[in-house]
Amino acid sequence: MSRLVVISNRVGMPDAEGRPAPGGLAVAVAATLREREGLWFGWSGQVAEVPAEPTTLQNDNITYMVTDLPPQDFQEYYNGFANRVLWPILHYRVDLAEFTEADFGGYLRVNEFFAERLSPLLQPDDVLWVHDYHLIPLAVALRERGHRNRIGFFLHIPMPPPDLLTALPHHEELVRALTEYNLIGFQTENDADNFARYLTRVVGAATPDSRRFSLGHQHFRVGVFPVGVDVEGFRRLAEEAEHGPLAAKLEESLVGRALMVGVDRLDYSKGITNRLDAYERFLEKYPERQGKVTCLQIAPGSRQEIPEYAEIDAAVSARVGHINGRFAAVSWVPLRFVSRNLGREDIALVMRRARIGLVTPLRDGMNLVAKEFVAAQDPADPGVLILSQFAGAAAELGAALIVNPHDRDALADAIERALEMPLEERQARHQEMYSVLEANHIRYWGHGFIEALTRPGVPLNWLSSRGANR
Ligand code: F6P
Repeated sequence: MSRLVVISNRVGMPDAEGRPAPGGLAVAVAATLREREGLWFGWSGQVAEVPAEPTTLQNDNITYMVTDLPPQDFQEYYNGFANRVLWPILHYRVDLAEFTEADFGGYLRVNEFFAERLSPLLQPDDVLWVHDYHLIPLAVALRERGHRNRIGFFLHIPMPPPDLLTALPHHEELVRALTEYNLIGFQTENDADNFARYLTRVVGAATPDSRRFSLGHQHFRVGVFPVGVDVEGFRRLAEEAEHGPLAAKLEESLVGRALMVGVDRLDYSKGITNRLDAYERFLEKYPERQGKVTCLQIAPGSRQEIPEYAEIDAAVSARVGHINGRFAAVSWVPLRFVSRNLGREDIALVMRRARIGLVTPLRDGMNLVAKEFVAAQDPADPGVLILSQFAGAAAELGAALIVNPHDRDALADAIERALEMPLEERQARHQEMYSVLEANHIRYWGHGFIEALTRPGVPLNWLSSRGANR
């Protein structure tokens, strides 16, 4: 079997005890690499004036290799073009994009730098898999260095419709860079269709079926590979956490109140302020619920040097103060806000104990929190998932209470409906969603993508070929 080389901005290096890194991308990629010999290359997360040679770590059959970035590159590539231009535009927030040519130059330079470091390590039969919006031009930089390997690209975040994508400065150059990949994977049919429409309408690519394309001398394919979770693994973690040290403390602190939980990276795409506004509306509209519900919002800080993230941080904190100031009683705090990073066991515990999981992004590629919430539930007495129609996960988890996160009243009513929902209905919805998660277990995701990349006859909608999508 040929070697798999994964390249992503963040690398899920195991910790000192060899435990795997947490986080959606890290867990998903690690599950794929475990099955074969592989190399995982990317940024160390560190900034250094003069980056030393890459650091290498060997763990089982995986070699991890990470490189530092100089401060200017970190600023222009990561804080600049990747997270102030690509991130907002691909999340449909053209209004938030802050473009400079200098940042775009830094973005291209880091992609060249990655290619330069990676190039001498590559063998002709390696299969390469590049992840996410940070590394769109990497295939071009590798092809220019003579690498003819099969190279796939997977976008973990949304792909907007052509009208929005054309607001991206250098959009055509970036899309043409994507066509250097043999296979381009998306989370949902909607993302793949948006991209297909751009290809045919904006750059005039030819296609017989919206999945196989030709543009100039390039021939490439587009597929749908929704990321899953380790469903039994997360369920077990949640079951075990019920007997862990935090469980009794949590129970004691709730004094029988219904727990509602949100878990997000602090990001404007996650809809946290809309959600808190809806919670306020719920407490106004259903006053008999005051004192009977506790909302726990976990939202560790993210990308803190970027102004829009400081703004969302301030906006969320203001809402938390406002809601608690308005509704709290001597013996009840309606909203608990945790901005620390919690361990996976603690997250699994609060999800299992929760009567409601609130996953209401304004736009999200997939949202694995939604899937983990379902996995964490006790099938005999499951909580209810309230899920945004704009999360990629909604394409699979239609048995959740699907909401429009912009509609404050509808979201407030969905909270009430979830609290009232009879046990049989909760069980039926949970069972349906759990089966979908089992059919799309994370162990199949990477395998499906690599098969499609290396064997051209393999289906490009891998999930529907398993009969698993709705
Ligand atoms: O899901 C998209 C993503 O960019 C991942 O690639 C990344 O691990 C995650 O969001 C967190 O973002 P960051 O790496 O900027 O902290």
